[in-house]
Amino acid sequence: MTLRIDYTNMMGDVVDGGVAAADWSAAPEAFRRAQAGFNRRRDAGELGFLALPADEALHRQSTDFAAKTRGQFDDVVVLGIGGSALGPIALRTALLKPAWNALTSAERGGQPRLHVLDNVDPHAISALLARLSLDRALFVVTSKSGGTAETMSQYLIIRERLMQAKLDVGAHVVFVTDPKKGALRQIANAEGIAALDIPPAVGGRYSVLTPVGVLPAALVGMDTAQLLSGAGDIAGRCAAAGDALATNPAGVFATLQFLADTKRGRHIHVLMPYSDPLRDLADWFVQLWAESLGKHRAAGDRGVGPTPLGALGATDQHSKVQLFMEGPPDKTVTFVAVAQGGTDLTIPKLHSNVTELGYLGGHRLSELLSIEQRATAGALARRGRPNMTIHVDQVDAWHLGALFMLLEIATIYAGELYGVNPLDQPGVELGKQFTYAMLGRPDAEQARQEWNLLPKPDPRFSV
Ligand code: PA5
Repeated sequence: MTLRIDYTNMMGDVVDGGVAAADWSAAPEAFRRAQAGFNRRRDAGELGFLALPADEALHRQSTDFAAKTRGQFDDVVVLGIGGSALGPIALRTALLKPAWNALTSAERGGQPRLHVLDNVDPHAISALLARLSLDRALFVVTSKSGGTAETMSQYLIIRERLMQAKLDVGAHVVFVTDPKKGALRQIANAEGIAALDIPPAVGGRYSVLTPVGVLPAALVGMDTAQLLSGAGDIAGRCAAAGDALATNPAGVFATLQFLADTKRGRHIHVLMPYSDPLRDLADWFVQLWAESLGKHRAAGDRGVGPTPLGALGATDQHSKVQLFMEGPPDKTVTFVAVAQGGTDLTIPKLHSNVTELGYLGGHRLSELLSIEQRATAGALARRGRPNMTIHVDQVDAWHLGALFMLLEIATIYAGELYGVNPLDQPGVELGKQFTYAMLGRPDAEQARQEWNLLPKPDPRFSV
C-alpha cells in the first residue's frame, strides 16, 4: 500500500514553465518556517484532524451506531453542505459500486442506499422524498455549527414528514455535530436524539475522518478502519519528515503549488484523477483548497490564493485539456493515477485491418487509461505546462484515507506559505448575514440595515 508523488514535470529544468531551480533550492528554508507555523497550530490544538486516525473512541461512535442499527434501514440520507457533504460524496463515489443506489438490496450485499442532499434545490429533495419509504430511512443531519440555514431547512422538512407519518423522529434521525455547542446538540440533549461528535478542533472541510464521513461510511459497510489507517500512515510520514521538505509528501505538494502560483503565475490548480471512483475527490479538494487559501492576508489587501479546479481523465481530454495545453499558462495539473483498477476489460481484436480500431485490440481498458494519463502529462510538459502525478496502488479505503490526509496537511502548509489562516472562512459570512436579514432572522438587524443601503437593480442595466 503506497502513495507516491512524482513531481518531475513541476521542475523548471525539465518543463519550461516549471518551478525554477533557484526557487526550489530556496524552498527548504521557507518550508522550515511553514513547518514551524504548522507545529504552532498543532501544539495550540488547532489541527484536530491530525489526531483522528488514532481516535478509537470517536471511530467507535460511528461503528457502534452502525452495528446497532444494522438491518433497520434501506436508505441513509445525509443532510449537510460544504465540508459536511463533500467528504461523504467523495467516499460514496470512491468506495461503493457504481450506480449503488440503483442496485438491488442483494447486489448491495444488504447494505442501504446512500444519498447526500447538500443543496436546497426543491427538485432534488422532493424527488428523493417521493421515492423513499420513510419508515426504512435514516437521516444523518450533519452540521458542525448546528445552525447552517440549508441543512436546518432540510432537517425541518424531514422532521415534519416523519411526524406526519407518525414515525418516531429519534428512531430515524441522528445528528453529527459539535459535542457541546449549537442548536442540534441542544435538540439532541432535550429530546434524546442520538448525536455523534465532530471534535471542536476539526473544522468542516477537515472533518471527513470524523463521523461526518465515517458514520455514513460505516452505515453502508465501508472499511472505516482501513480509511483511518491510510490517513494515519500519511500523517506519520509527514510527521516523521517534519521540516525536511524532500521527504515530506504534503510539504512537497504544497510548496510546489505555492511556488508555481507565486513565482510562475500558475494561479489555477487542477486536480485530475484518471479514475471514475476518484472524480468527487476533486470536488472535495476544490472546496478544501479554495475555502482554506483564498483570503486576505491583512484587512483591505487584494487577497491571495490559488483557484482550484477539478477535472477527470480521460473524459476531460475531450474538454478542459485543450485549455490546459494552449490556454493561458496559468495552471498546474495534479494527476491521480491508479495502478490497479480491480475490474478490467480487454478490448477485443476486431476490425484489425481498420487503422483507427485495429491497434486497440488486445489492450486492457485500465492500460488505455494509464497510457492516456502518461501521454497527457508528457504532452503538457512538452508545452511548458507544469504537472505532477500522485500514484496510488488502487482505489480502496486505505488509499482514500491517505489522499484525504495528504491534501489536508498540504492545505495547512499552503496556508502558512501564503500567510493566511487555512482554518477559517470569514468571506462567506456576509452573504450568510444578508440571507438571514432577508429571511427575517431576529438577530440580523445590522445586516438588514447594510443590505438596505446596497444599490438596487437599475433598469438601465437590465436587458
Ligand atoms: O469547511 C467549512 O467549514 C464549511 O464548508 C462548512 O463545512 C459548511 O459551511 C457547513 O457548515 P456546518 O457543518 O456548520 O453546517
